[in-house]
Amino acid sequence: MHAPLLFPLAAEDPLAKAVADALAAELGDLEIRRFPDGETYLRYRSAVQDRSVMLFGSLDRPDPKILPLIFAAGAARELGARAVGLIAPYLPYLRQDRRFNPGEAISSRHFAQLLSRDVDWLVTVDPHLHRYKSLSEIYGVPTLALHAAPLLSDWISREVERPLLIGPDSESEQWVGAVARDAGAPSIVLRKHRRGDREVEIEAPDIARWSGRTPVLVDDIVSTARTMIETVRILRKAGMRPPICVAVHGIFAERAFDDLLAAGAARVATCNTVPHGSNAIDVSRLLAEGVRRMTLAC
Ligand code: R5P
Repeated sequence: MHAPLLFPLAAEDPLAKAVADALAAELGDLEIRRFPDGETYLRYRSAVQDRSVMLFGSLDRPDPKILPLIFAAGAARELGARAVGLIAPYLPYLRQDRRFNPGEAISSRHFAQLLSRDVDWLVTVDPHLHRYKSLSEIYGVPTLALHAAPLLSDWISREVERPLLIGPDSESEQWVGAVARDAGAPSIVLRKHRRGDREVEIEAPDIARWSGRTPVLVDDIVSTARTMIETVRILRKAGMRPPICVAVHGIFAERAFDDLLAAGAARVATCNTVPHGSNAIDVSRLLAEGVRRMTLAC
């Protein structure tokens, strides 16, 4: 029986290599390039017939990545792959999980339907499930959502003295509660009002009583960083120590990372689910273990 073939969708992807090593999978050779007119050219340079194929790629900034992914999955099937799985350390298009205004697309559903047509299974890390209880509500193929909370707890326990874990909003309660329990630290959850993509208000009543602790903001995603920036600002105003910001997925749109540091964050640590200079928490073993479970089940 052949080892599975893992194909990174991005040229330089150290996480793909680490996961392939942990799975004893073969790293496949897949050429993806653009024609001069902007269309995608794709060619498997490793034979996929009768092989178990795993496509690997973080899907932050998803739109330019999706067509190559769909072509890679379709071509692998046509070329006789036994199964085509997708390992997406960051899975996008989950926040638009209902029609907030008349006429809006519920993009989470359309995106899930699109991927479910082309891959046989999906493994990811902490998808942003808010109104959906699980990915199976929208995905038509087996999915596995892994949780980075224990890795965040380990990092915080190692790196931060007397932490107070802080979730910026009710949506973060699930991550913060789990991370705090594992780290044996107290936690609080603040109140957030989002008025627009970049307009966020945070309320932090009673925060001053925790002034002897190091605030650690914990969230699943940092995108514009407005949530963390406003929280840092409120905490600093209340006389708290400079906060440490920890997130699973550091997307950091445009100048978000610099703005967060400028707002007064002492340190920013993210998982390597999205490649970024703030990556400090490695998810390769978590992913490998999840893929092992998924491929045994499928
Ligand atoms: C909210 O639902 C999420 O948990 C994050 O708080 C949010 O996505 C962060 O977004 P931003 O960095 O744009 O404020």
